[in-house]
Amino acid sequence: MQFQNTRSFARKLDKNDKLSKYKKQFHFPKVNNKKVIYFTGNSLGLQPKTSQAFVNEVMEDWKNLGVEGHFYGEKPWWDYHERLAKPLAKVVGAKPEEVTVMNTLTVNLHLLMVSFYTPTKKKYKILCEEKAFPSDQYMLASQVRFHGFNPAEAIVEVKKREGEHFWRTEDILSKIDEIGDELALVLIGGVNYYNGQVFDMEAITKAGQSKGANVGWDLAHAVGNITLELNKWNVDFAAWCSYKYMNSGPGNVSGIYINEKYLGKKDIPRFEGWWGHSKERRFLMEHDFQPMTNAEAWHLSNPSILSLAPYLASLQMFEEVGMDVLTEKSKMLTSYLEFILNQVDKEVDATFEIITPGDRGCQLSVFLHGKGRSIFDYLMKNGVIIDWREPNVIRLAPVPFYCSFEDMYEFGQILKKGMTGQDKT
Ligand SMILES: Cc1ncc(COP(=O)(O)O)c(C=O)c1O
Repeated sequence: MQFQNTRSFARKLDKNDKLSKYKKQFHFPKVNNKKVIYFTGNSLGLQPKTSQAFVNEVMEDWKNLGVEGHFYGEKPWWDYHERLAKPLAKVVGAKPEEVTVMNTLTVNLHLLMVSFYTPTKKKYKILCEEKAFPSDQYMLASQVRFHGFNPAEAIVEVKKREGEHFWRTEDILSKIDEIGDELALVLIGGVNYYNGQVFDMEAITKAGQSKGANVGWDLAHAVGNITLELNKWNVDFAAWCSYKYMNSGPGNVSGIYINEKYLGKKDIPRFEGWWGHSKERRFLMEHDFQPMTNAEAWHLSNPSILSLAPYLASLQMFEEVGMDVLTEKSKMLTSYLEFILNQVDKEVDATFEIITPGDRGCQLSVFLHGKGRSIFDYLMKNGVIIDWREPNVIRLAPVPFYCSFEDMYEFGQILKKGMTGQDKT
């Protein structure tokens, strides 16, 4: 499609957008009494208007029923988490039994390492991307040390090539080949938080497993953003948070995926707790652990219902819309944003560099050569909410649920004003 940098063209795209009605279903912060253009759904998604009622329902049940809310609440708490598995499985391309919600992301990655990183003297290396999200780096290094190995030797980081801003799949595959039988685990962020790159999860999973390694993915920036087919790709395990594209609320509960081949096993290394014990027998308070036959075997504690409530509200929207429709709009909207950026770049003779490669979801990371920080400040003051990453990068995520094509046009106008204003100073 031939894009145009005009309001009328953007409005025409909005008119044809199947998702345009969803913008009204989210709460927007305001700057100068005007709803913002929100580009930070890759950090914290906006609040769906339905969330409050879901939380209130739990509060009311607690108020009126006390402990009886576990069994007689509007949505009884004792199996509340089960309601999330089916819609979430659709979002990540899994079977419902392979998916559950619990804890938070870094905690879950540690718990999954217990099951999937069992190094030996000969097979102990972990492959990841260079400059992975810091929490993942700390998690990996501390796990390696815990097992008595040296992170500098055990963790192999795949680097970007000199002068390039993205990782090449062939470099990852050849590194896997090079490490060979010493490879115990591959763990990469499925969508990189910094440059928005989508990794070829299917090819990398296959390559890692061909060396006898387990392959897991941190899907914090992937879930609800791109099409995932975890079961089809035969991924061993994955974990993600829910507060970015999943719109479940700040710091909210994480999701995990465990490939079906590991379910129902008693002999798998795993840290265990009473909520992973067979549901039918849980309240018999038995001595020996009988694992659930689904991913819930990895549960430790009874879930935080107040956290699950807004997540369930959000998942109902995902269920209603489906990832196909979301990703279809996401591609078009992100391409339109790219077009707008390039137009502004030409018009004001700026020096933007989009460092996100073609394999992407709905995030564009833009290197602002020159006065980056002052442009960032200008945009924030003028109702464009973006985020800043050192040394000079802004990240823009046009989330298809609540960003419109007119937002992209409007953003271009504000950016242009900011840039020309900058030039005069
Ligand atoms: C890629 C990635 N991994 C891990 C984390 C850590 O998440 P949490 O603080 O929920 O453990 C984040 C947080 O933004 C992230 O973006």
